[in-house]
Amino acid sequence: MHIQLRFKPAEAAPEDAFQLLLECHVRIREFCLVALRLARQVEAPPHERSEAAGRLTRYFTEALPRHVADEDESLAPRLLQAGLSPAGREALAEMSRQHADIEALLAALLPVWSELAAAPGRHPALAPELAGDSERLAARLEAHLYLEEQSLFPEARKLLPPEEARAVLAEMRARRAPGTSPRGKGGEP
Ligand SMILES: [Fe+2]
Ligand SMILES: [Fe+2]
Repeated sequence: MHIQLRFKPAEAAPEDAFQLLLECHVRIREFCLVALRLARQVEAPPHERSEAAGRLTRYFTEALPRHVADEDESLAPRLLQAGLSPAGREALAEMSRQHADIEALLAALLPVWSELAAAPGRHPALAPELAGDSERLAARLEAHLYLEEQSLFPEARKLLPPEEARAVLAEMRARRAPGTSPRGKGGEP
């Protein structure tokens, strides 16, 4: 019997908008952990603190706004157009409200991370406020991701016509093209 010894490498699944959105959720959860560790670790060397604070600043000013735009600007209007159920519409409205809440929390955290990136020795003075705000951010983001993953994306996946899902994907890629502003045309982080 002939046994095939050479295996064809598994072909990568074609990229799909929902798959990319869920990959963003993995990164959001990772950065929440970075934020919590930065706030709580009292022994970390200053350069590590500074580096973590810089990464948090970049992630939450550049990458997260792109993900929010993917959902609010690319996905939401197409779902409404496609005839989302009343429960789905409620989840969509709640999603956008939560985006605004999260942005407000970040408005308090971003200056603190910037300060720590430049002056990691300020950690003892900033830690109490940082810990509370980081815990609030992580809890709100987890509840938010859960809402999207449980109450919105499953229906959205079934509902969105393939050409509309491809259009969402194309807009997501365009947002991440080199030289593109995080908040889209004309916006600043
Ligand atoms: Fe979201
Ligand atoms: Fe999301």
